[in-house]
Amino acid sequence: MANSVGATERKRVLSGIQPTHDSFHLGNYLGALKQWVELQESHDAFYCVVDLHALTVEPDPAALRKRTLASIAQLIAIGIDPAKSTLFIQSHVPAHNQLAWVMECLTGFGEAGRMTQFKDKSQKNGADRTVVGLFTYPILQAADILLYQADQVPVGEDQRQHIELTRDLGQRFNSKYGQTFTIPEGYILKAGAKINDLQEPTAKMSKSSASQSGVIELMDTPEANRKKFKSAMTDTEREVKFDEKNKAGISNLLTIYTAITGSTISAAETEFEGKGYGDFKSAVAEVVVDFLTPIRNKALELLEDPAHLTKILSEGAEKANAVASKTLAETYEALGLIPRS
Ligand code: TYM
Repeated sequence: MANSVGATERKRVLSGIQPTHDSFHLGNYLGALKQWVELQESHDAFYCVVDLHALTVEPDPAALRKRTLASIAQLIAIGIDPAKSTLFIQSHVPAHNQLAWVMECLTGFGEAGRMTQFKDKSQKNGADRTVVGLFTYPILQAADILLYQADQVPVGEDQRQHIELTRDLGQRFNSKYGQTFTIPEGYILKAGAKINDLQEPTAKMSKSSASQSGVIELMDTPEANRKKFKSAMTDTEREVKFDEKNKAGISNLLTIYTAITGSTISAAETEFEGKGYGDFKSAVAEVVVDFLTPIRNKALELLEDPAHLTKILSEGAEKANAVASKTLAETYEALGLIPRS
């Protein structure tokens, strides 16, 4: 039965982010996290740091520990309020793995092999250096979502295919074993759903880019981020105009500028009419740095009190486990697994 735990009228949202790096980047924020903050006001929100997904890149244990806490600190610093949202760590809720196994038994081998993120990563590294966890990664993600009976999943454009797989698996289970899961929809905004790398403005800004010089990090110093904007790749013209095909760099900067200021593309084009790219880049740098500086300071302050963060996580885990274990019990029941008496 959907949304029965917590007996709330509100629609439910769930999303996750990997703790694979010391800092989130501006693409994560504009593509997904900004929406997380907004949606907690109107929805019953569940947000998790997906530490189990991060194991697919074989992180150093000390780094993973540090990055997981840094992720929680950044989420609170951008405005996720643990009193409004259930904020938790994926590995604190064992039902994620348990439901993932059930979903693996419903997923076709070819179906999983068609996931473009898996194809890209496995082609880059070669079959021998690609772990099975990378192959089953989207199925664990489907379990993350279905366990909470989520109605909506705020993510960036790159997650669209994983949400489709989640819907397919939920529908497949429901039609075979009876109505058990809410079928979620992606909540993917048009503007900001794909923020590109400042140095390579036709490729998405990514934590795993070879060079970090085009990646704006939430935890970077203001000086470092200003420098990255100043050296952003642009074209040889002079006009600040949105034209993704011919002016990918300027268009990406316009997307960033308008997403941060709340202005529109045409108002921004008018604002910078007759001004050169140098002035425009400095203006983008200033609005972004002004926006990120208090977030960075707040995250650093939160990290000085790890006990406070772990308390928030333990409360989040309790709430998440209550919802997840109920869905898992219903799933096992529907499958014919005998409950322990
Ligand atoms: P991850 O950790 O790579 O990214 C977190 C979120 O940031 C979005 N994003 C972007 N949006 C716009 N422009 C970009 N350049 C950009 N780069 C990243 C992503 O779309 C994502 O929303 N598989 C997920 C994690 C996950 C998850 C889940 C998400 C695991 N379980 C359940 C939703 C629900 C991922 O790798 O996100």
